[in-house]
This record gives sequence, C-alpha cells and structure tokens, in this order.
Amino acid sequence: MIRLRETIEVPRPIDEVFAYTSNFGNAAQWDPGVADSSKVSAGPIGIGTAFELRVRFGARSIPMTYVVRECDPPTRVLLEGKGDSVHALDDIAFAATPRGTRITYTADISLLGALRVVEPLLKGALDSVGKKAVGGLRAALSDDVAPPGRSRLSDLQDRLIVPGLLGFTSLGYHWHRRRWKPLAVSLRGRTAVVTGATSGLGQAAASQLAELGARVILVGRNPDKAEATRREIVAATGNDDVAVALADLSLLADVRKLARRLLETEPRIHVLVNNAGVLLNQRTTTAEGNETALATNLLAPFLLTQMLLPRLRESAPSRIVNVSSGGMYATGLVLDDLQYEKSAYDGSRAYARTKRALVTLTEMWAERLKGSGVVVHAMHPGWADTPGVAGSLPAFHAITRRFLRTAEQGADTITWLAAAEEAAMVTGVFWLDREPHTTHVIPGTDPSPQERQELWDALASLTDRKKSQTGAR
Ligand SMILES: NC(=O)c1ccc[n+]([C@@H]2O[C@H](COP(=O)([O-])OP(=O)(O)OC[C@H]3O[C@@H](n4cnc5c(N)ncnc54)[C@H](OP(=O)(O)O)[C@@H]3O)[C@@H](O)[C@H]2O)c1
Repeated sequence: MIRLRETIEVPRPIDEVFAYTSNFGNAAQWDPGVADSSKVSAGPIGIGTAFELRVRFGARSIPMTYVVRECDPPTRVLLEGKGDSVHALDDIAFAATPRGTRITYTADISLLGALRVVEPLLKGALDSVGKKAVGGLRAALSDDVAPPGRSRLSDLQDRLIVPGLLGFTSLGYHWHRRRWKPLAVSLRGRTAVVTGATSGLGQAAASQLAELGARVILVGRNPDKAEATRREIVAATGNDDVAVALADLSLLADVRKLARRLLETEPRIHVLVNNAGVLLNQRTTTAEGNETALATNLLAPFLLTQMLLPRLRESAPSRIVNVSSGGMYATGLVLDDLQYEKSAYDGSRAYARTKRALVTLTEMWAERLKGSGVVVHAMHPGWADTPGVAGSLPAFHAITRRFLRTAEQGADTITWLAAAEEAAMVTGVFWLDREPHTTHVIPGTDPSPQERQELWDALASLTDRKKSQTGAR
C-alpha cells in the first residue's frame, strides 16, 4: 500500500469546501489524473453516495467507482475507490481556520493482481500525481478569478464558419472544456428563475443550479410535467428548495401574471434564465395575435425581464442569462416584419431573427444596467440533443445525432454564467462553452445604434399592456 498525504489551506468557508470536495462528481475539474467524473446516485452526498471516475493510467484511462463510506459534514469524508487493478481509500479532513479552511488529504492506494509487484516502483510517480491533484484542488478553491477573454483562435474559427460549426458539436464541448477553470461555488441562499425548465437545456440547467444549492423556480406551462420535473430534480440533487411557477410564455397576459406572482413570492431573485424557446415550422399566432416564435422567444423574455428588473436590482449582485442560438449568426435584425407576415414563413429564419434580437437586447440591457450590480449575458449552447431539436428539426437531428451534445453539456454555460464569480465581472457578452464569442460573422448583421433603438421601441410597444389587452399593435 502506498500512502499519500498533503495538507493545504484555502480561503473559503468550511461548508463550501466540504460540499465541493466531498462531491467526487467534481473530481475531473480539479484532479488532472481524472479524465471524467460523475455522481451516479441520487440525493445529497452521504454514506453510500457513488461516483464513477475514469482515472488516467499512463496512456489509458481506467474506470473506478468511489463510494462514500463515512461522512461527517463538514469535517470529514472517507471514500473508497475500486477498480480492476486499484483499490483506494481517500480520507479527507476539513478544519476551519482564521483564513478559510485547512484540508488534510490522505490517500491509501493499493495496486491489485499482477500490478502488485511493481507497486514499490510506482511510489514516486503516484506521489507526484497526488501532489498535482491536491494542487488542483487548491487552485479550484482559490480566490484567484479573472473573466476569460476572447481568444483569437475562436474568433478565427467563428469567421471561417465551418470550424466554428464544429465547435457546436460534442467534440467542440470536449475540446473547449480542457481550458476551463473548476466551477467551485455554492449558490446556497441564492434564488434562480429558469424558464423552459421542463425539458432539454432548461431542465439540465435547473438541475445543475439546484445541485449547486440554489433555490430554483421552474417556469413551465404544463402543471403535470412541471411537477414531475420538480420531483426529479429534488430526488437527483437532494435539494428540496425547488418550486414551480406556471405560465404559457407565448401569452403576454400570462407573462405578466407570472412576473407579478414571482414579485409577490420571491423576496430576492439573483438569477433569471430566459431559456424557453420554440422553432415552429408553420406560422401560427397566439390568442393575442402575435406570431408564436416571436412571442415565446422574444416578447416573453423582454417583458419578464423588464418586470423583474426592480427585484433583480434589489437582489444585486444578480445576473440575467439569455439563451440564444448559433443560428442567429445567419441574420441581422428584421425590424419591418417582426411578425413575419410579409414573406413566406421559414421557421428557422423566424427563429434566428428572434435569437439575433435577444442578443441585441442583451447588449442594450447590459449598457442600461451598468453599475447596478446586474450583469446580463447571452449564450448559445452549441447543438444539443433535446426534445426540442428532435421535434423541430427531425432531419438535422437524424444526421447529426452522433455529434450532438447532451443536454447537460449544452446547459453547462448557462449554469456557469449564472454561478461563476468570473461571469459576474463582465456584462453584455455572447458566450459559448464559457468563452466570449463575436456576435456577428456576416457583414451587415451587426445592428446599428438606430436599429437597436427601433427594436427596443417596437418591443416596448408590442408588450405594452393597454395595446396587447385590446389586441392592437
Ligand atoms: N438544443 C439545442 O441544440 C439548442 C441550440 C441553440 C439554442 N437552443 C435554445 O435553447 C433553449 C432550450 O431549447 P431545448 O433544445 O432545450 O428545447 P426543448 O427541449 O423544446 O425545451 C424548450 C422548453 O421551453 C418550454 N416552452 C416552449 N414554449 C413555451 C411556452 N409557450 N410557455 C412556456 N414554456 C414554453 C418547453 O416547455 P414544454 O416542456 O411544455 O414543451 C420546454 O421546457 C431554447 O431557447 C432554444 O432556442 C437550443
């Protein structure tokens, strides 16, 4: 058996340090020796919680299962790891200090079977792996944060279009995540509202935010589906502070009711994720007379955000995350036909127009909210395999399926923007995979200041209560 022992001190409160470190689902974020890690049992971390890891071993990676054997929050956790050729006992002790938390990490590693013979020869190599791992944990829990800047390589890829599109796939996700800093934060005491939380990316983001400890309000239109999603998230994360708010976001009257209800029930709102969205292949209009994609993807986030802004300001530091799409690169603003009445309806174009407008709005909100403590981000998730994509773009889904991201991978940047300290330091930026990206690659698609103002005025008019109540626009 080889024993590795390291002690470090980190500038974070003991509860946060315990929560992050004891969740070995985070191990791949901080341990360079771990290629992949996930929590595979439901509920909060406690005795019996299991994790699956792929541990690098030379050029290969080997599967290991870790199970929490002893748990005494926030002072100690003992995990047992088993693989075909390795057995490990990781005993991690935590103590509060005047500057944060001291972590004493002891790992007892035994090689099994044929590898037993070479165990003494590997002591030096394992020592160095252990030091790197604990060094990674110290970096993850440090205060040293700076927002990522725009990379020249990504800029070039975006402009060359095909390399940019490859970045939207799961390959792009795996490529980009190699550069990420760990997301070692706690959202305990913070409230997040997520629209479109009953499916795909919204559900994945809501679950990730709940996992980080936030109170999460799931906005959905179908009461049974919303309640089922709530139960699923509570069971998976062990966070029971998850609530449902119902609204059909294609209807302005419903958006207004939702906003009023949230203002009544939520004394603080720290995060608003405008995620709900639709791509419709036929033009339809709502009972209020608006084209449905325009109403859902643009009028709803505009009105909901405007109505919740006073609460977001009072709750600052707070964040708004607008879920756009890479499809918006294909178009500029089309202001003379917001309702898509003047030409033959093309669902993908209609969708792209609303997503371009949402990015433009993000920049305008960011400008207007400077200094308020409310930051505003737009992001696109890449291409993720969700019920929305399968239903709206069946041919695209069938062809690209093997390369699509999971919903969790697509949602990662939503969660990161809602939670990471770095993301609170910038505003008005368009993100993919935790990296800022250009908002326009085709000449003429970057809206002028006058077009921006016209967009704002048009949305203010379309969402004006007196006008929308009488159906007049
Ligand atoms: N998946 C991708 O590759 C991709 C790429 C780029 C952008 N996006 C954007 O990501 C967001 C989420 O998409 P997704 O792929 O996760 O799609 P999804 O699986 O269809 O989820 C969409 C969510 O929006 C909700 N929603 C739609 N219309 C609504 C309405 N009128 N009122 C209330 N809720 C409504 C849906 O509710 P129900 O559960 O009741 O249907 C669902 O929860 C969208 O804004 C989409 O444009 C996705």
